Amino acid sequence: MGKIGFIGFGNMGRAIAEGFLKTGNFSKEDFIVSVNSAESKEKLQREGFKVASTDEVVKESEVIFLAVKPKDLPTVVSQIKELPLLEKKVFISICAGVELKKLQQLFGKENIKLVRAMPNINVKVGKGVWALTFGENFSTKDIEKIKKLLAPTGLILEVEESLIDSVTALAGSGPAFVAEILDAFAQGGVKLGFKYETALKIAVSTFLGTISLMEEEDLHPAILRDRVTSPSGTTIYGLSKLNKEGMKGTIVEVLEEAYKRAKGLS
Ligand SMILES: NC(=O)c1ccc[n+]([C@@H]2O[C@H](COP(=O)([O-])OP(=O)(O)OC[C@H]3O[C@@H](n4cnc5c(N)ncnc54)[C@H](OP(=O)(O)O)[C@@H]3O)[C@@H](O)[C@H]2O)c1
Repeated sequence: MGKIGFIGFGNMGRAIAEGFLKTGNFSKEDFIVSVNSAESKEKLQREGFKVASTDEVVKESEVIFLAVKPKDLPTVVSQIKELPLLEKKVFISICAGVELKKLQQLFGKENIKLVRAMPNINVKVGKGVWALTFGENFSTKDIEKIKKLLAPTGLILEVEESLIDSVTALAGSGPAFVAEILDAFAQGGVKLGFKYETALKIAVSTFLGTISLMEEEDLHPAILRDRVTSPSGTTIYGLSKLNKEGMKGTIVEVLEEAYKRAKGLS
């Protein structure tokens, strides 16, 4: 396989590359990246990444991540769309809100293999989520190859393109919502007498433990909730307050708002 190319190596490009490195199956020599500024270029070179021009990245790679901000995509594609043998490569765009149809228009060709992907930042630690929509021109073998490449970095979901904005809300923005909820738990711990750092450790450990238990025993959330809710106990008092304040409804609305914004960007 040729190199894995990254056009754009900010938060997400780096998270994907670090996720690959973490699997132990890749080294920095397997990647080639292009960025915009001289500062980023120097920094990446110091870290041992091969940095090149955008067209060199495409020439040397078999799979190329388009990991720039959506507004920079037209410039980037205009730099590469006339290169030879593009039809032999796979372009994976992670740009939020950019439809496959739009991407294909930018390339101005019909025979390019384009994937619209929505990963989340957790790919960095091998526990991400990838929603993938494959464009035309893919054989089953090509699709399996891409899924196999990405699988070690997280859960792979092949979805219809109309669901990508939903994944953007749930999984793309999701880590920020989860972080906010954890912060609230930690603040609650501070109110009950702990230092913030200790309270956060307790909160994180409680979340991780709850998720592991649910996964290992394949538990529905309601079953787990009932297991820790004894008659007249502390949990039911907390739960009644939680439900009175409409926490579940708020979270559903939070996701709806993020979805609407993702759709607006499209
Ligand atoms: N952040 C998330 O959680 C998340 C999740 C899913 C999808 N996404 C999508 O991922 C994409 C990247 O987001 P990000 O958060 O990683 O952005 P970011 O941190 O701002 O990184 C953007 C990268 O693009 C580079 N760049 C800009 N113009 C370029 C050009 N003309 N040629 C080559 N490289 C260029 C930048 O280089 P310099 O460093 O030199 O400026 C930087 O490395 C976005 O489209 C976003 O919608 C983000």
